[in-house]
Amino acid sequence: MNWVKSLDVILKLVKNIITIDGPSGVGKGTLAFSLAERLGWNVLDSGLLYRLIGYLSITEGLETTQEIVQFLNKSKIELITNLDEGLCEIDLNNNTLGIELRNENIASRAAELAKEEEIRNAIIKIQRNAYDPEKGLIADGRDMGTVIFPEAALKVFLQASPEVRAERRANQLKEKGMSVIMHDLLVQIQLRDEEDMNRKISPLKPADDSLVIDTSNLSIKEVEGRVIKNFKKL
Ligand code: DC
Repeated sequence: MNWVKSLDVILKLVKNIITIDGPSGVGKGTLAFSLAERLGWNVLDSGLLYRLIGYLSITEGLETTQEIVQFLNKSKIELITNLDEGLCEIDLNNNTLGIELRNENIASRAAELAKEEEIRNAIIKIQRNAYDPEKGLIADGRDMGTVIFPEAALKVFLQASPEVRAERRANQLKEKGMSVIMHDLLVQIQLRDEEDMNRKISPLKPADDSLVIDTSNLSIKEVEGRVIKNFKKL
């Protein structure tokens, strides 16, 4: 029995979860929704949960980790996959949040708070509950394959140069009517990479058994083609 097979036995690998990890702006979200539409599965945008935490710390004036965790524990938080719009939203105590969470200031705050173990632990259950075995799940984030869904049979890790990612992110923000300063965006992306890769708890890194794809010179269709080819082999 080879080591992949042994892992299969130990973890009971699950075929209808695909994890997609990687740094910001690498194309995880676009790939996740393209695959979800093709397979009829749900999407977990785990970054949106960390953005929610960043957003709440600012809007609710939650200063300590303890205050944030208490707020999370007493709230109803649900992730909604909006396939028509190609994005996830969050239902927080019956209020839908989406656009409010998608700016770089919130993302930077999210990356800072994501270093805290208590905060990461507080949202593990919400993330795992996003998997409906009847439906299948594409899980997008930084630690989906390493920590949240190690049982996923297919784990994808996307990478691309910071310059390519900054340009992609700039285009996305412009499409949403937001103004962008390229240099600032590149610096923010590099800072966020630093924080995400170097934190002690659940740092951004490929799972040992992941399919690593450099998307710098690939179209979304080409990336999707590689993932589907590997998915069919399962
Ligand atoms: O994917 P995103 O850009 O929306 O994520 C925002 C931040 O949230 C990211 O810089 C780090 C944090 N994050 C995390 O620590 N773990 C995840 N699984 C997803 C996001």
